[in-house]
Amino acid sequence: MTGVGSHGLVGVLLLAVMMAGCSAGPSESDGAPPTPAPGRLVYLTESCPTCHGRDRMGTNTGPPLQHLRSRWEGPKLVRFLHGPAPFKQADARLRGISERYRSDMPAMFSADEGRVQVLVQYLLGD
Ligand code: HEC
Repeated sequence: MTGVGSHGLVGVLLLAVMMAGCSAGPSESDGAPPTPAPGRLVYLTESCPTCHGRDRMGTNTGPPLQHLRSRWEGPKLVRFLHGPAPFKQADARLRGISERYRSDMPAMFSADEGRVQVLVQYLLGD
């Protein structure tokens, strides 16, 4: 008799522990906007927004990134992201922008090629 009672209690406790485990994990859907496009996800997870702003409007450490399509084409932008320094030497406009900011655009050394490709598609897509 008492055995049945304590089994029931154990069951309730287990259930409580399991539920607590579920709700204690990081919740991904709570109030979050719909999942961003892959390229935007890369933009947000690399350090880009720190200097260029979440919505690419620029900050005091980096210029706005808008209408890039009029100045860049894909393969060139990929090369720029891997190593911006030579582009500044070759491009007076970039040098001019650069002078307004204290730190330089960092190279994306560690990002894999696929990530850079979708990032570039996103950057050129407006
Ligand atoms: C530490 C600040 C900083 C971070 C982080 C940063 N940038 Fe920049 N970015 C700059 C600055 C400053 C310039 C202007 C050129 C220079 O000084 O190197 C620039 C220039 C650019 C340009 C050229 C803009 C134009 O008008 O042609 C692009 C494109 C760009 N960044 C994209 C990115 C992307 C994508 C990321 C994330 C992977 C990123 N940046 C991360 C500071 C930053």
